[in-house]
Amino acid sequence: MRYQNGMVQQSQWQQGKLVQLEITDLNSSGEGVGRCGGQVIFVPDTVTGDRIVARLTEVKSQYARGKLVQLLEASPHRIRSRCIVADKCGGCQWQHIDWEYQLEAKHQQVVKALRRIGGFSHPKVAPILSTAYSLNYRNKSTYPLGISATGKVQAGYYRKGSHQLVNLNQCPVQDARLHPLLSETKKDIQQRGWTIYNEKKHRGQLRHLSLRIGNRTGEMLLTLVSTEWKLPDLKEQAQTWLKQYPQLVGVCLNYNRARTNVIFGRETHTVAGRSYLREIFAGVELHIGADTFFQINTEAAELLLQTIEAKLDLQGHEVLIDAYCGIGTFTLPLASKVRQAIGIELYQASVAQAKHNAEINAIANVTFMAGAVEKILHQLKVKPDPDIVFLDPPRKGCAPAVIDALLTFKPSRIVYISCQPTTLARDLKLLCKSGDYQLDFVQPADFFPQTTHVECAAVLSRLDQFKFA
Ligand SMILES: C[S@@+](CC[C@H](N)C(=O)[O-])C[C@H]1O[C@@H](n2cnc3c(N)ncnc32)[C@H](O)[C@@H]1O
Repeated sequence: MRYQNGMVQQSQWQQGKLVQLEITDLNSSGEGVGRCGGQVIFVPDTVTGDRIVARLTEVKSQYARGKLVQLLEASPHRIRSRCIVADKCGGCQWQHIDWEYQLEAKHQQVVKALRRIGGFSHPKVAPILSTAYSLNYRNKSTYPLGISATGKVQAGYYRKGSHQLVNLNQCPVQDARLHPLLSETKKDIQQRGWTIYNEKKHRGQLRHLSLRIGNRTGEMLLTLVSTEWKLPDLKEQAQTWLKQYPQLVGVCLNYNRARTNVIFGRETHTVAGRSYLREIFAGVELHIGADTFFQINTEAAELLLQTIEAKLDLQGHEVLIDAYCGIGTFTLPLASKVRQAIGIELYQASVAQAKHNAEINAIANVTFMAGAVEKILHQLKVKPDPDIVFLDPPRKGCAPAVIDALLTFKPSRIVYISCQPTTLARDLKLLCKSGDYQLDFVQPADFFPQTTHVECAAVLSRLDQFKFA
């Protein structure tokens, strides 16, 4: 094999060239980072300490991207993946890295984002929290459906960087109790003759199979995402599934005809059984529907909430706002520790479920408001003024209007929960640059082992207020 080693002239950089390099870091997308001839090269499926040969697949002026061709020397952090399709499947990026190093890399990812984007020179980032499980942790998996070359119904994740399906009968990060449903449902779909959606032709019935389980209760929900409301004999098949799998409590159909890659449509109909499963979270019973948001890793989310709660040392007199509250996952356990809790959520179905969840737990000091946080926070008139605001926005972070509202009514403390360190760092910078807040600490947590994703909770206090040790 002929490859470039050491100093390479810029003009020699071209796609297809083989280069030898050592991986010295991981970037935020989870790719290995190395240098050759002064050029930065990103190579997926590698880890710090690997010595490799890579084929250049993309060459830009600032960097190049390569594909691992030969492993010359394996890093001590490299392990044999526990997933048989890890080299193909785009679901996880770090199955080849030992968990300890994954945790270290995620901690570093958070520190780097806070430094580079947030401008915090010495951010206080606590050691990353993790549960005892790096596998079988996902309580929900939504699989695109497809058809094999021989006409068989398939369900799985897309191949890395493509829309080609990798068929799965089990997935090591999914709760293993869902495996029989994943492998068997495909056969039933095939036998019923229901057609599979083809996104290019925008034709066919079934788009996705979504499986959800209550970690603590074992109750399961099966949802088919379909372009049609009526599938022949669906009711009969749903009843068969309920009988066949005693833990399955409901079969739902979500209607999505849109030409989009958004998975769920707006309407969900219960075909048989219940529209929700029961879960126990932080001492509260939650009813969770087929398409409402719930944290994927129940135990890790609970651990993060407990850790933050211990640091906040709530006294019981506080007024708390939980912005982006979903079905009340954090609002309801926190309500018993404060005087009043207010949840704000855009998605109507989640607000309805949050209200229902308050009722079944007889939690009376909580109010849920439907609408956009950026609008409601500006209009909110609560007396006394809110003391604590929890924020848990989607990956894109908070709209500027949310930051403005916070800087107007200035709660004593802000807890910002995020699954995207870069937007978290951006928003923390805006809050702290005002001179009104200081960043006390950031608590990362591994909600998504085997992937590059990391969850964080940042705690800020108003400068004339509390200081954490
Ligand atoms: C990351 S989830 C967090 C949900 C909840 N805190 C939990 O832990 O289950 C973000 C939530 O924000 C909601 N959301 C997205 N944009 C919003 C907005 N502009 N205003 C209010 N809620 C929004 C989503 O529907 C989703 O339920």
